[in-house]
Amino acid sequence: MCSEHDLILVNARLVSMESDDRGYAITSPKTVTIQKGKIHSITDTNSTEHSGVQVVDCKNKLVTPGLIDSHTHLVFGGNRAEEFEQRLKGVSYEAIAKQGGGILSTVNATRKATEDQLVENTLPILDGLLRSGVTSVEIKSGYGLTLEDELKMLRAAKSLENHRRIKVSTTLLAAHTTPTEYKHNPDAYVDLICQEIIPAASELELADSVDVFCESIGFNIEQTERVFATAQQYGLKIKGHVEQLSNLGGAQLVAKYKGLSADHIEYLDAVGVQSLADSGSVAMLLPGAFYFLKETQLPPISQLRELNVPMAIATDFNPGTSPFADLTMMMNMGCTLFGLTPEEALRGVTCHAAKALGLGHSRGQIKQGYEADLAIWNIAHPAELSYQVGIPRLSARIVNGELCHD
Ligand code: NIG
Ligand code: FE
Repeated sequence: MCSEHDLILVNARLVSMESDDRGYAITSPKTVTIQKGKIHSITDTNSTEHSGVQVVDCKNKLVTPGLIDSHTHLVFGGNRAEEFEQRLKGVSYEAIAKQGGGILSTVNATRKATEDQLVENTLPILDGLLRSGVTSVEIKSGYGLTLEDELKMLRAAKSLENHRRIKVSTTLLAAHTTPTEYKHNPDAYVDLICQEIIPAASELELADSVDVFCESIGFNIEQTERVFATAQQYGLKIKGHVEQLSNLGGAQLVAKYKGLSADHIEYLDAVGVQSLADSGSVAMLLPGAFYFLKETQLPPISQLRELNVPMAIATDFNPGTSPFADLTMMMNMGCTLFGLTPEEALRGVTCHAAKALGLGHSRGQIKQGYEADLAIWNIAHPAELSYQVGIPRLSARIVNGELCHD
């Protein structure tokens, strides 16, 4: 875990993302004092005279909460460039999966890799995210599919905190697909998940949440519920890859278990939207996968908006459906492909993303008592974060009160 620091920011124009109804509410230049990695005070005085503490003059730059990438599959072996080629010759993602390619080909490469090799593979991808202002990232397992390999992935994910200034949340996604050795008995694989993998991940404190790919090429509703019920028993939070390629009613199941988020949701129907509104779960939008799979079914944004379901946006970085290590590019896609406003996109990678990780009380806003994870930007207006792509706009990140020039 990163150590906690004292720091003072002066002349910081804050975009706090504190309240849903005040727009960006950009402040006049403020002084933010940070003690032991937490925001201690926000005041109007802007003297640069402070003894004994590092002072950063933000020179009236905009400061947002550090961005939170709340859904990724960052740790894996190999890549899937050849599958990309195949798909462009007309073979569908589902057809490739059914032929034993897709996720299973990454499973083979991941099983062969050591924990250190997985970390090595991940660092350049993580660096891409950091350059887009990310200070917290969620990382799922799901390419190991044995007890040892799933735990190896989770350990590799957690150890990234020792290599970069970043906060990692981990999610056990052993129920990503049925491994070849259980092809003829998927229920026995669900038994393994429930009887061995979830208990071990919980005992070793390697996972914050449990996720399931609830889909025709993943797990059915009954299997998904068994995994959710076991996760709940072990005190782990619940997330679901649901209604991505079809509507199986997975979002309602996430809602039934008071899950943190229902993710993908292109095929979410009105009943599903209502269930998320009732449970307070976050709707996780993943425009990178939508774009890369050339999906045409749009998630029900206006219904989600109408019922005030918080919408998060994440990269879903993975080798098969979303090879994009830039969270601001996802904000752009959220706007252009899904019709979000740039303000909704910013909420989607700050306060709502924190909520999707169960961390809404401590991250994702600039607020007294919150963790001092911030991003300082060379932009004149917050909408620029969603607008242009490929221009390095980040001036610096702050993680736990520590200034990082990546
Ligand atoms: O979020 N939908 C399932 N899982 C990933 C894809 C994983 C892969 O293709 O390797 C996703 O899109
Ligand atoms: Fe995913």
